[in-house]
Amino acid sequence: MTLENKIAVVTGAARGIGRATVERLAREGADVALFDIRPEVAEAAQAVEAMGRRATTQIVDIADPEAVQAGVAAAAAELGPADILANVAGIVANIAPLVRMTPEKWDWELGVNLSGAFNMIQATVPAMIEKGWGRIVNVSSTAARGGLPGQIGYSASKAGLLGVARNVAIEHGRHGITCNSVLPGFIETENVLAMPVEMREGLMAASPVGRFGTVDEIANVITFLCGPESGYLNGAEIDVDGGHQLNTMTLASRKAYKK
Ligand SMILES: NC(=O)c1ccc[n+]([C@@H]2O[C@H](COP(=O)([O-])OP(=O)(O)OC[C@H]3O[C@@H](n4cnc5c(N)ncnc54)[C@H](O)[C@@H]3O)[C@@H](O)[C@H]2O)c1
Repeated sequence: MTLENKIAVVTGAARGIGRATVERLAREGADVALFDIRPEVAEAAQAVEAMGRRATTQIVDIADPEAVQAGVAAAAAELGPADILANVAGIVANIAPLVRMTPEKWDWELGVNLSGAFNMIQATVPAMIEKGWGRIVNVSSTAARGGLPGQIGYSASKAGLLGVARNVAIEHGRHGITCNSVLPGFIETENVLAMPVEMREGLMAASPVGRFGTVDEIANVITFLCGPESGYLNGAEIDVDGGHQLNTMTLASRKAYKK
């Protein structure tokens, strides 16, 4: 176990990639503070405790800086101050073209996806500075690079997250703290599996590996970045997308190639 005696804070811990990350970190020996707005996060905490690790749940809207400060303080009082922060929580608040993107939805997406991560980092980094060690991982998206039709707020927030990570990496590397970004492609989660079947099949056919990723395949990379063996990775941006962005063949030419 590589994370024994480490305290990890994970946002978006109730389901999907966040929940998988919680369990993977606990399997490596970390105690975990689980942040989410969904009460189901309690089930994820039980899974941590079943592995013999300590857990606390904080029902916190990460877009609210005061709630974040209070939640981080409460988690530290229970488990101890954080060594690790995985910023996994994220939303798609609106799927609409630019002209129909409402200011409220824009603010909501930027508030959770971008300011939420900033709030969490600001609340947890002082303890890491004091310890002279810390690991921060921001879960961005390949949408940060290529954009996604109808998701301008999401794409902008995920690109902004890369900027946050780069700056934290520059400012806090000398404190023994690293900050890196993971950019998932299409992952088998509730949101992705809710897409129309033709769209899913088209995306999988256009992927070099011919499938979506699993939540564990993202959690594994996050966990490596949270561990002692990744200390010289700082400000890195790791695409975990099965090579999806490499594929410049059209779907039609790919079909022809298969024959
Ligand atoms: N699923 C994918 O294919 C994919 C691809 C690229 C990037 N991502 C990113 O990975 C992360 C996890 O994605 P997922 O598919 O597992 O998402 P999900 O919707 O399954 O889970 C997200 C979790 O975040 C929580 N959350 C939402 N708003 C919150 C808030 N204001 N405060 C605290 N918690 C909040 C939700 O309650 C939920 O439990 C997100 O940041 C997402 O943008 C996902």
